[in-house]
Formats: sequence, C-alpha cells, structure tokens
Amino acid sequence: MAILEVSHLEKQFGATQVLQDISFSLEKGQALSIIGASGSGKTTLLRCLNFLEKPDGGSISVAGTTIFSAEDSPAQYERDIRTKRLHFGLVFQNFNLFPQYTALQNITLARELLAKEHGGESHASIEAAGRALLEQMGLADRADHYPYQLSGGQQQRVAIARALALQPDILCFDEPTSALDPELTGEVLRVIRTLAEKRTTMIIVTHEMAFARDVADRLIFMDGGVIVEQGDPHQVIDHPRCERTRQFLARYAEES
Ligand SMILES: Nc1ncnc2c1ncn2[C@@H]1O[C@H](COP(=O)(O)OP(=O)(O)OP(=O)(O)O)[C@@H](O)[C@H]1O
Ligand SMILES: [Mg+2]
Repeated sequence: MAILEVSHLEKQFGATQVLQDISFSLEKGQALSIIGASGSGKTTLLRCLNFLEKPDGGSISVAGTTIFSAEDSPAQYERDIRTKRLHFGLVFQNFNLFPQYTALQNITLARELLAKEHGGESHASIEAAGRALLEQMGLADRADHYPYQLSGGQQQRVAIARALALQPDILCFDEPTSALDPELTGEVLRVIRTLAEKRTTMIIVTHEMAFARDVADRLIFMDGGVIVEQGDPHQVIDHPRCERTRQFLARYAEES
C-alpha cells in the first residue's frame, strides 16, 4: 500500500489555477524528485501536503487514511490539523531556523512542546534524541551554536534534523540547496543521499537535475500546474517522452 496517495489535487489563487488535477502516489521508503520551471506549482504542492495551504479540490491520504478531502467541511479540515501536519516534515530553501535558539534547541523545541501538552517523553530522552540527530548530520560539536554562528550548509543540516525529530512519515524538501554557495551544496546533498539510502520516505523539489535523477526512485516533471510526465528518474531525465519535458531539460542544460 502506498504511504502517500494524492488524487486530483487542485489549487487556485484568485483566478489563477496553480495546481490542476495533480495525482501521484509514493511507496514507503521511496524518494520522489519533483522538477519543473519556476512558477510551475512545486512549492504550492508541498505547502498543500503540509497543510500550509488549503487545496480547492482532490484528496490526500497517508497510509490509507484520508487526511484531506475537498468535500470536508471547514470544521473537518481544522479538526486535528496539527496531528495531520505531523505526517509531513518540511525543509525550506532558507532554513527558517529560530534565531534565538541553539542548534539543539531548534531540533528539540517541537518535541518538548508536544511532550508538555501530551506528557510521555522526558526532557532527557528528547535531548538525547536531538544530540543523536546532530551527530547523524555531522554536527555533534555544534549543539550549542546559534544559527548566526553556523554556515548555510550547517544551518540546513540542523533544519533537516529538526524535521526528522518529529519522525514524519514523509519528509519534504523545497529546493534545499538553492540558497547555498556551490561549495556548501555538496554537504547537504550528501545528507539527503544518506537518508535515501536509509529508505527515508522523501519528496525532493530540486533544480539539481543529476541529483534528482540519481537519488530518487521516481520523478515528476511539472509545468504550468500539471504533472506533464512522471516515472523512472533515469527514463524521464535521459529519455523524456514528452516534448515539454525535453524542452525544459534542454533549456536547463543551456543555462547551467
Ligand atoms: N499565496 C499566493 N498568492 C497568489 N499567488 C501565488 C501564491 N503562492 C504562489 N502563487 C503563484 O502560484 C504559482 C506557482 O508558484 P509556486 O511557488 O508553487 O511555484 P514553484 O514551482 O515553487 O516556483 P519556484 O521554482 O520559483 O520556486 C506562481 O504563479 C505564483 O505566483
Ligand atoms: Mg518554489
């Protein structure tokens, strides 16, 4: 059974249809890359999955349970919205760390708040889990650093650890390296590659074409709010079936 099933998702802003009939599924342990031109709707799709934007049509199911349906009443949409959000983690282009908290606090904060509300986990166990995540990101010695004391690549690795701390079913990345200098891109891509090797279920929006192809099990090419082509990453990137995909990749190759 698919861990994620997106069916006929629609989103408009005013008169602009930004997502049209978006349907795809993702198996547990798989990585999905999404590529597409600027404005094609990639961020909007991730924001819809993370309940940061409310779609106008379609449905979203996680592990067989429908967590969003456009048929739902506003009250049904709002009900348990924080729990529904926990199915997904989101790593942003600009890291979005809390500047007033250390690396470790950034990672543990949400879990501390959940423990405070619902009881259960001790402070010591949350902190130990946070330190283990920092270690996994190669940042064990940066636990007490504030974001301004970290490089962009280090900040993004803290942001990845923060997203992982809540153990989401699906981890989403929105252009995780596009705000980084080229020499810092590699360290973040390496971390994402390691997560893929560990079979972390992920959706990765990226402009790094070779990375999108090599790290993912599936790939989607979006244009103008629709999925133009989806399938095996090597097939789509190296042997695209659709003319629009070919044009996008050719233009991209020229620019980079
Ligand atoms: N809150 C909003 N209100 C109105 N229009 C919006 C809003 N958010 C996005 N849009 C529009 O929706 C379209 C898709 O935007 P989106 O940010 O999803 O594209 P994208 O594929 O992520 O682009 P990029 O590669 O530049 O990040 C764009 O035309 C954008 O202007
Ligand atoms: Mg975007």
